[in-house]
Amino acid sequence: MSISLTWDSPSSVSADWLIVAVADTPLPSNNIQRIDDSLSGVIAATIARKDFEAKPQQQLTIFQGAGVHATNVLLVGVGKPEDCGLRCLRRSLLAALRSSCQTAEQSVAVVIDDAILQSLTSVVAVELAADCVATAPQGGDLYKTERGRHPFASAVLCVDADSLELNTAITRGVFIGEACNLVRELVNRHPDDLYPETFAADAAVLANTAGLEVVTLDETQLKAERMGAMLGVAKGSARAPRLVKLTYRGGDAQQPMLALVGKGVTFDSGGYSIKPTDGMISMKADMAGAATALGAIIAAAKLKLPVNLTAYLGLVENMISGNAYRLGDVLTARNGTTIEVHNTDAEGRLVLADVLAYAVDDGVDCIVDLATLTGACVVALGEELTGVFPNNQELADELCAGATAAGEFFWQMPMHDHFAPLLKSHFADCKNVGPRWGGAITAAKFLEKFVGKTPWVHLDIAGPSWADSATAWQDVGGTADPVRSLIQWLRSR
Ligand code: BES
Ligand code: ZN
Ligand code: ZN
Repeated sequence: MSISLTWDSPSSVSADWLIVAVADTPLPSNNIQRIDDSLSGVIAATIARKDFEAKPQQQLTIFQGAGVHATNVLLVGVGKPEDCGLRCLRRSLLAALRSSCQTAEQSVAVVIDDAILQSLTSVVAVELAADCVATAPQGGDLYKTERGRHPFASAVLCVDADSLELNTAITRGVFIGEACNLVRELVNRHPDDLYPETFAADAAVLANTAGLEVVTLDETQLKAERMGAMLGVAKGSARAPRLVKLTYRGGDAQQPMLALVGKGVTFDSGGYSIKPTDGMISMKADMAGAATALGAIIAAAKLKLPVNLTAYLGLVENMISGNAYRLGDVLTARNGTTIEVHNTDAEGRLVLADVLAYAVDDGVDCIVDLATLTGACVVALGEELTGVFPNNQELADELCAGATAAGEFFWQMPMHDHFAPLLKSHFADCKNVGPRWGGAITAAKFLEKFVGKTPWVHLDIAGPSWADSATAWQDVGGTADPVRSLIQWLRSR
């Protein structure tokens, strides 16, 4: 599939689809007016009839418009320019692109209303459009005998600005889109297909291709590394755990080593604190943190970002069996902390405890962990926001700026010290759950015990990493949110 730029008039581009992203403005922008002139005023007429009002993600197809070379013209609204940021434009482009790849081998041309390009630069818009062309065809139909959408044969992006930068923006957009596709595919794969061993093997192949260093620790090595908390969770499963460590050196040796730590619970049954059916059905997605960390480091390598980065993926399955860990068991984490298990469904923090301590022992300079850690975070922030729990404000600010640049939503949460004693245990140094209230925060306070003084931010992605219902811009399943934020953060370093 090729994505290219054209400076030709959109009306003269031959394609199956000409997608026109139209803003809701009192008067049409120059580039929209020119297309409408070729269409003898059809766009103005549909707007006058209120058949199409350029509302975000609203679509209208004009078949075989004379005067335009493309077979179909697909109008998609982006709303008012002042309200249309990156997030809105992405959703609109995705909605239109998804409509136009329902048959195989479609060619598409995309033009974006000039009114939008005043707030977003052409470089940003071209990168975004390439990202959307790469991601739109892929969906949740991994195991369907017939795919609902198909990769495009070709895509042409219509631009006015002439800049060399725009071609590299396409390449960047495709790399980012491919990282998103990878994250979504991993999240959507079923848990009898993607489990610690297969996840580790796939990660190693991808990492080798991207030129990363790969180290995989198996169960014996994890024991030797004293990862007692992670191994406690793993005990109940017939699938042995793995720790995958991937390193990318894009900077020089004096530059800091950044670390991503991902929760990779390939299935979370809850263990003996078993989840009800409704809560368990989506728990193949409990490895989204690890998938996001993997997607981000592969993107960093492909984008040749000048940073040093290590990703640690803690891969386990939380199951029930005669060997499973019990309520009341006391686990000894890698850093010596003893943990009384009060709830086997609070397993993610046990996995992260050891993996965080392992990263600290490696001497990394800062850590960002990603985890579908708590339902409480989804209760607090809803399904579209990532909860940000820092021990270092500067790092939190950097990550939040990355999210803003990526059109994703981060929200910082409190980390007050009065939450810490809620994790006291009668029998061990701490227990793995606090009381009901403030559950996302006590989870973060638990993790804090394992990072020492290393600057660290915990990202709770239980809400945004998974879509429970389908929309015009995405299928049910993995969303890849917040991998784009991490990539933006790494680009800003
Ligand atoms: N994987 C879940 C959190 C989760 C819930 C992710 C819903 C995505 C959607 C996690 O392991 C878990 O079960 N957490 C418990 C913690 C509780 C036992 C303190 C929860 O949120 O209920
Ligand atoms: Zn759980
Ligand atoms: Zn979990």
